[in-house]
Amino acid sequence: MYNHQVRIDALSTFRIHLFDMVCALSTALDLLDPALGSHQKRTCLIAAQIARNMALNDSDYQDVFGAAIFHDIGAIGLQDRLALLDFEEHDAHAHAHMGALLLSRFPGFDRYAALVRHHHIQWNYGAGALFEGETVPLMSHLIYLADRIEVLAQGQDNILGAAPGIVEQICDASGSKFHPLFVDAFCKTAQQESFWLDIFSRNLDRILMDLAPFDNIDLDLDQMLQFAQFFALVIDSRSHFTATHSVGVAITAETIARHMQMSEQECIKIRMAGYLHDLGKLAIPSEYIERQGTLGEQEMARVRSHSYLTLDILGAIKGLEDVAEWAACHHERLDGSGYPYHRTGAELTLGSRIMAVADVYTALTEDRPYRPGLSPAAVLDNLHELAQQGKLDPQVIATLQANLGDVETARVRAQNQEGMDLIEFWQLATQS
Ligand SMILES: [Fe+2]
Ligand SMILES: [Fe+2]
Ligand SMILES: [Fe+2]
Repeated sequence: MYNHQVRIDALSTFRIHLFDMVCALSTALDLLDPALGSHQKRTCLIAAQIARNMALNDSDYQDVFGAAIFHDIGAIGLQDRLALLDFEEHDAHAHAHMGALLLSRFPGFDRYAALVRHHHIQWNYGAGALFEGETVPLMSHLIYLADRIEVLAQGQDNILGAAPGIVEQICDASGSKFHPLFVDAFCKTAQQESFWLDIFSRNLDRILMDLAPFDNIDLDLDQMLQFAQFFALVIDSRSHFTATHSVGVAITAETIARHMQMSEQECIKIRMAGYLHDLGKLAIPSEYIERQGTLGEQEMARVRSHSYLTLDILGAIKGLEDVAEWAACHHERLDGSGYPYHRTGAELTLGSRIMAVADVYTALTEDRPYRPGLSPAAVLDNLHELAQQGKLDPQVIATLQANLGDVETARVRAQNQEGMDLIEFWQLATQS
């Protein structure tokens, strides 16, 4: 049933700007703690402005930009995040190590791994050129400097008034914490009021886009799929309980879509929506996700914001509108009882209906802290009941049932593979 020409056609007619994707991932990561604001994007802006004043070569500039916008990707727990707000950072190496591991798993981002691994190494009068016997990339010292400037600038309501104090604090640490080469360039950059005002601009994304070295690089559907799978790893690696959920939903939804004769491009996009559907969960404290018991009313209310946030993030990516819509509607129900939009059957597309069924199906087959996973037959009973109540689409469920063998083979294989990858990942992450 698989036609390679169809797949090639589907891939070649679809393109997404790399900048849009990178920016969306950075936004998603900054959601982890509202106190951080747009920490990564602002750090990236600061590093890029200093780099421009130094006339770095294109390759170094791209490394600085790409690594800075993701530099805290490894801080996936709330505690890690809060520690980042401390100027005298303590034990920052765990998140740098974890970040490098995550980035090294994505072929497009592996070039940033070494910079992220070392972004908290102090210059220490030249001793910081090496760390644990490894050469620290020079550009790591620029990201470190930009990161610390951002931490000092955070929360300042009169940034131009605060600027001289920040410059003084940074200059005091030139040669000790920071590489003098970059401090000198910063001092020149800091003379421009626009440098400071850009940091707090409401048009931060647009300013970043103007500075981005890859604003005209496009991703095709295959690269997008890899990118989405990478997002899924970041989302799933936050919890041992939901560790392979996004992958399970992605494969289940794609298999159903293929049996419902959706186009090749739609099938790939629905898999992407599965990888990304819980992206907004990055804003939910990890202790809620890891909780052994059920959540209280206030906590549940917070959890219910996640699918809205998924659309908020993905909606900013041009060309991915349908993926964003399908992903965001995975908790909607045909009778209007779902969330966050309370859409009804007439407003829910086939993609959204498939996502809703794939999410419930996958969740019920998985172990949770408060119950073991159900057998496929028991899950189907639950789904039929939900269809009878007018919540889930009976045709989607019938397709799932008619092709249960296919769905289960694909889902179990994908989740086992992801599970093994995550075990290896956690082993590496804990041996720093
Ligand atoms: Fe950091
Ligand atoms: Fe940071
Ligand atoms: Fe969800």
